[in-house]
Amino acid sequence: MVTAFAPGKCILFGEHAVVYGQPAVAVSIDAGVEVTISESSRWILEGKPFEPSRHPHISHIINDIFEYTGRPLEIDIKSELFSAAGLGSSAALSNSMGAALHHFVRPNEPLDLISLARIGHSAEANAQKGRASPTDTATSALGGCVVVSGDRVKGTQHFFDATLETPEGSRSWSISKVELPEIEDVWLVLGFTGIGSPTGDMVAGVSELLKSDPLKMKEIEAIGEITYSGLRALSSGNMEEVGHAMNECQERLRKIGVSSPELENLISATESHSLGVKLTGAGGGGCMVSLTRNPQRVAECIEIAGGRPLVSKFGSGGARIVIEEN
Ligand code: MEV
Repeated sequence: MVTAFAPGKCILFGEHAVVYGQPAVAVSIDAGVEVTISESSRWILEGKPFEPSRHPHISHIINDIFEYTGRPLEIDIKSELFSAAGLGSSAALSNSMGAALHHFVRPNEPLDLISLARIGHSAEANAQKGRASPTDTATSALGGCVVVSGDRVKGTQHFFDATLETPEGSRSWSISKVELPEIEDVWLVLGFTGIGSPTGDMVAGVSELLKSDPLKMKEIEAIGEITYSGLRALSSGNMEEVGHAMNECQERLRKIGVSSPELENLISATESHSLGVKLTGAGGGGCMVSLTRNPQRVAECIEIAGGRPLVSKFGSGGARIVIEEN
């Protein structure tokens, strides 16, 4: 039996724009997904017969990536993440499944986090009709603060490159990490609107918007500029500037139509206690994120406004094996 954990992620800057080669900055969060696999006489997922077509991420990893032909497996999933909420729950699921299966079939080979990030990206792309940046999967696999961009970004440590054939043509990204300075008294508070929002649909919506109104590409480019200034502020520990860049990013995300009344409700409920606040992930519904020195107060404001809060420190560890038993 083997159990693997992979964290969720919070995009601070650059969601959607990263699909078009602009930079994005994301951090891993404390909450994540744990997958346990063990040999069994039948294929079982969460106590029920496993139906591959209903679980594209998991079946892609078992059949296409590992080409697993061993004995049937029993798979259990424990998620601390709201699903379809912009916190990278499907990336964390793909990564924890990839890590657990890797350890199950090759127990003596150490887990290579870059290979794991590639496995996760392949599973996400497969499930999102070929449109997925490696942001969620790389942040969940590597942990810490991850920068994903069409070009190499100065001042970051390069880890690997990823390419993908999308319906709009071939895309490639450079994935790097940034060592954050000590961030003592600032937290992220995520607020779930309670409305699930599939990433694939939101990404397809932006693609439609850009086709019908090509001038909106200016907003995508502006998000790229804001992301660079947010990254500079983050690297130097200037959290007021980070918050300011988050607010500016939200302005542009509104203009590409990915905010919603429910997100705006949680944003306005928390902005007076936040250094910065914006939607995070694909938008539509899902989550907002507040950068704050007063996480308790922000969590209360989210609850009073009808949302569900989740408090996290910045950039905890990446994917890992947590239990193994023979
Ligand atoms: C989703 O967490 C982030 C998006 O930019 C999609 C992607 O990067 O694949 C909206």
